[in-house]
Amino acid sequence: MSRLPGKRDFPVEHIRRYLEPGPVVLVSSQWRGKTNIMTMGWHTVMEFTPSLIGCVIASSNDSFEMIRKSKVCVINIPTADMIDTVVGIGNTDGSETDKFETFGLHPRKATKVGAPLIDECFASFECRIHDAKMIDAYDFFIFKVVKAHVAPRPRYPKTLHYHGQGIFTEGGGKAVSRVRGFTKYRDTATF
Ligand SMILES: Cc1cc2nc3c(=O)[nH]c(=O)nc-3n(C[C@H](O)[C@H](O)[C@H](O)COP(=O)(O)O)c2cc1C
Repeated sequence: MSRLPGKRDFPVEHIRRYLEPGPVVLVSSQWRGKTNIMTMGWHTVMEFTPSLIGCVIASSNDSFEMIRKSKVCVINIPTADMIDTVVGIGNTDGSETDKFETFGLHPRKATKVGAPLIDECFASFECRIHDAKMIDAYDFFIFKVVKAHVAPRPRYPKTLHYHGQGIFTEGGGKAVSRVRGFTKYRDTATF
């Protein structure tokens, strides 16, 4: 690095702008014959084997009870060209809207869970609740990915990354390799 970045005081309530990593995902669910979708930015990989993902689903969302009761969901990753769909889904309530129909999305039957995949997304991960201990305290769900469906190309699709206050950036830029530096985590580097 040639120059120091010159940091200044910054309001702690806005640090999400820098920490929310994305990519933004669409979480599909199904409970008692009804499907739903919500937009989500607050998620993190927690473990590779088993494949664990932690995420916040606010209890005010219709998806919260649907997922808690059915114990499953599908985490789908949209490409950047789906930005208006992502925003629309994140600004409507499943109790009032059939989001598959309203946003012209196609549900596809999953192989291991009751919730549907979203056909338009380039990746869909079928998930089951792995640990429910933190749901009451933090609306924090820990899912185990039990099946993954991913389009092989493009290898690094353009994804959406949310910074709060309605602002997104696009991911999937030029791939930069440092694979030879990964002497400690060889298995991670080879995939
Ligand atoms: C870009 C974006 C990211 C969001 N991230 C989350 C999130 O991580 N967790 C959450 O509970 N809600 C999040 N939301 C809000 C929900 O998607 C929103 O409340 C939605 O209307 C919930 O739908 P539902 O009530 O049908 O479940 C996000 C919304 C947007 C637009």
